[in-house]
Amino acid sequence: MGIDAGLVTEWRRGRRAAGLVELAVCRRLRALAAGVPADQAIVELGAFKGRATGWLLLGAQEGHRAHVTSVDPWGLRKDGYSSMSPTYTAPATYAAFKGHLARIGATKDTHTVKRGYAASVGAKWSGPPIGLLFHDADHSAEAVAADLAAWLPHLAEDAVVVLHDACDPNHGVQAGVEQVLDAGQWPERELIRWNRRPHRRGALIVKRAVADAGDGGGAVLAESDDDPDRGGLDPGADAPGPDVPGGQ
Ligand SMILES: C[S@@+](CC[C@H](N)C(=O)[O-])C[C@H]1O[C@@H](n2cnc3c(N)ncnc32)[C@H](O)[C@@H]1O
Repeated sequence: MGIDAGLVTEWRRGRRAAGLVELAVCRRLRALAAGVPADQAIVELGAFKGRATGWLLLGAQEGHRAHVTSVDPWGLRKDGYSSMSPTYTAPATYAAFKGHLARIGATKDTHTVKRGYAASVGAKWSGPPIGLLFHDADHSAEAVAADLAAWLPHLAEDAVVVLHDACDPNHGVQAGVEQVLDAGQWPERELIRWNRRPHRRGALIVKRAVADAGDGGGAVLAESDDDPDRGGLDPGADAPGPDVPGGQ
């Protein structure tokens, strides 16, 4: 059976998987996941309803079948850190995550769920080296730095780190990265801007070493738009926007 590519990549309005990651970044996650060797892990910090999880699983399946682990506290986090907290913590959100993963064909062989905080789970990680770390959890600089510091010892030598919402000045993603991923050791940075709203969402891709100089390291890209139904609304720093039906 495997992961259902049609379901994961469905992007028609009203049919796409609920989530907060734009298509350009989902596609990049798929490609990066496909490049992770079988003996390395793919780890996602902040899964919400599983949109990006599906793309990571699909990419892994198309590549070397690296295992994907999703870390999120869902309803365990009760401090209201984000305007979206009521949605993040609602029981229906975790149910939606589980439902989406079941529908697309995730199994225990391909996917593990760790319900907890990114930094705590990272501190206890005993799995294989991580080839791809996708961060889309708490976007404050302090949280990003703490999460990265916890996972840094587990990253493979050629690991790739992707951080979502890196282009949003309301968040501290880039500041958190600079606190932990030393530019000398992690020289490659690529910023993917969301061309519909260059100061919302977006992702920063960080690589440890310049293995293939000239592939766009340090570039600032505005990928083709992917979210045609977002209209003129500005959902705010981390609100879901109209691509998430029913306020999900
Ligand atoms: C922006 S959403 C993630 C969106 C998701 N990547 C997608 O594909 O739609 C942020 C998620 O981070 C989770 N979160 C909050 N604090 C966290 C933490 N300390 N560690 C891990 N996840 C956290 C929230 O529960 C929420 O589900």
